[in-house]
Amino acid sequence: MTAVRQAMPGTVTLIIAHFASVHSTQFLFADPKEMGTLGMSDSLVNEINRRRTFAIISHPDAGKTTMTEKLLLYGGAIHLAGSVKARKAARHATSDWMEIEKQRGISVTSSVMQFEYDGYCINILDTPGHQDFSEDTYRTLCAADAAVMLLDGAKGVEAQTVKLFTVCRKRGIPIFTFINKMDRASKSPFDLLDELEKVLGIRSTPMNWPIGTDGDFKGVYIRENSQVLLFDSSVSDHGASKVKTIEAAAGDPELLKILGEPYFGNLNSDIELLDMAGDPFDEKKILNGELTPVFFGSAITNFGVEVLLRRFLQIAPAPTSRNTDKGTVKPTDKGFSGFIFKIQANMDPNHRDRVAFLRICSGRFDKGMSVKHMRLNKKIQLAQPQQFMAQDRSIIESAYAGDIIGLFDPGHFRIGDTLTDPSLSFRFEDIPVFPPEHFARVMPKDSMKRKQFLKGLEQLSEEGAVQLYKQPGIGTETYVVGVVGVLQFEVLEYRLLNEYGVELNRQNLNYRHARWPMLRDSALPPDPKKLTLTSTSMIVLDRDDIPVVLFESEWAIDWALSRNAGLRFDEIHER
Ligand code: G4P
Repeated sequence: MTAVRQAMPGTVTLIIAHFASVHSTQFLFADPKEMGTLGMSDSLVNEINRRRTFAIISHPDAGKTTMTEKLLLYGGAIHLAGSVKARKAARHATSDWMEIEKQRGISVTSSVMQFEYDGYCINILDTPGHQDFSEDTYRTLCAADAAVMLLDGAKGVEAQTVKLFTVCRKRGIPIFTFINKMDRASKSPFDLLDELEKVLGIRSTPMNWPIGTDGDFKGVYIRENSQVLLFDSSVSDHGASKVKTIEAAAGDPELLKILGEPYFGNLNSDIELLDMAGDPFDEKKILNGELTPVFFGSAITNFGVEVLLRRFLQIAPAPTSRNTDKGTVKPTDKGFSGFIFKIQANMDPNHRDRVAFLRICSGRFDKGMSVKHMRLNKKIQLAQPQQFMAQDRSIIESAYAGDIIGLFDPGHFRIGDTLTDPSLSFRFEDIPVFPPEHFARVMPKDSMKRKQFLKGLEQLSEEGAVQLYKQPGIGTETYVVGVVGVLQFEVLEYRLLNEYGVELNRQNLNYRHARWPMLRDSALPPDPKKLTLTSTSMIVLDRDDIPVVLFESEWAIDWALSRNAGLRFDEIHER
């Protein structure tokens, strides 16, 4: 994403506020000025309703960066497409964490990209692919109201798509599918739809249909209005120019002249088949995440991007309601509220500032406002916003439900923390703990540094950089860390050394799965001593001292299931 990040002028915004804590008793007396913001005006409701907050999910190389860039281009947030190459070059240059650290400010900027299009205010959440894939990627999806799933037409559903899709599915958010790279040879569109159902278990309804897929892409037929959009392969300017469009009905003889046989004939029979056997468009099912609308196109040439954007904006939900321990909070409910879903260390290692990303769930955020930090039961002031990365970002005076704001964090926030208007009192549902896939035993090289080691591990796990487990019974120094992406190990080593002065000994472990054993039909863990496990499985305790079993294989999980009647092994743990 580097080039996109670098190319972004002030129209792509990230809101950063600096906060200071105030005395804990103060929150009991809400400032009358703040109380004034509690009444929802029409303009506030309009602001919230015109927001669309979504993430683009894909397997690396499917074209997410290209698509993001094109969406920003349509929104006028960047003026020149085609910086993907520069980004790739930058990516190669940043293959080690030292370099990534230098780039950190850039990645902070792009954690959320906001732009306007056709009266809508759009927030795209960055879900890093590749090397930077981490638990953060999953957590970010908890802040989105919808997802655009990008597939490479030649590859179909790939491994990382499955993982990200599963998280979206669990949340029940609408998922829009864009099948990319149709300008190249691709799988048959019918096979791709079949794959969506067989691999992901989701029914689909094609919004448009490709004409010519064997490397001879002609265009797409838009089912909604029977319009044909013709692809112009002679344009090789990375999508800077508009695509040629003609209006024609599927059986229109004009279209026969333009497409020629067999494309014309194939299109007509495909459409007939789709109309007869395909799933009809059903907005309710789409919004429930039961049906995915499918768009075919080519992001690099802009082809089909605007069609996706327009339809997405029409169908995708405005900011959605969220569950709390006191019931549901609607975005248009009175009073500000939000939760922290991501914490990112600041780029300046001399100051241990971190940026906490907050999804606003209700009401409006104003620069300098006071809010209640629910976990600490303390009032904090989101004081003078501070611009800490200069030219790439602009500070906004206010933000609304659906928006993401970045807060400077001197160490007071944890993933999942709730901030509310001082007059309110509730906590948002916990962000799940996602299952790590790589594990390592860690200890300080120098045993004299144990205190700093523990402090660093604790803070980094609170920040969500790694998951931390203790191994009971083998002494206090035995810690195991779990990560979703191996880059997180490098980040841990680098940050422990640079921020805590601790050199790490890391011994990679052969485990691939973490499961929380639970008594069936209950949220209670069993007595770990009574578990029957394979000899290679290991029991550790998570941050909340709840037992977790580390398994080497799926087979070992099945074995444990068969030997422990009345138990289940949870993959995702809700705190
Ligand atoms: P990612 O963020 O999902 O990892 O993917 P990215 O956008 O970086 O795209 C991966 C590669 O796919 C890039 O090629 C990009 O140009 C290409 N690509 C993206 N969309 C399309 C498309 O619609 N059609 C075709 N034919 N290619 C597409 P690359 O060779 O890795 O880089 P570059 O040399 O093109 O910069």
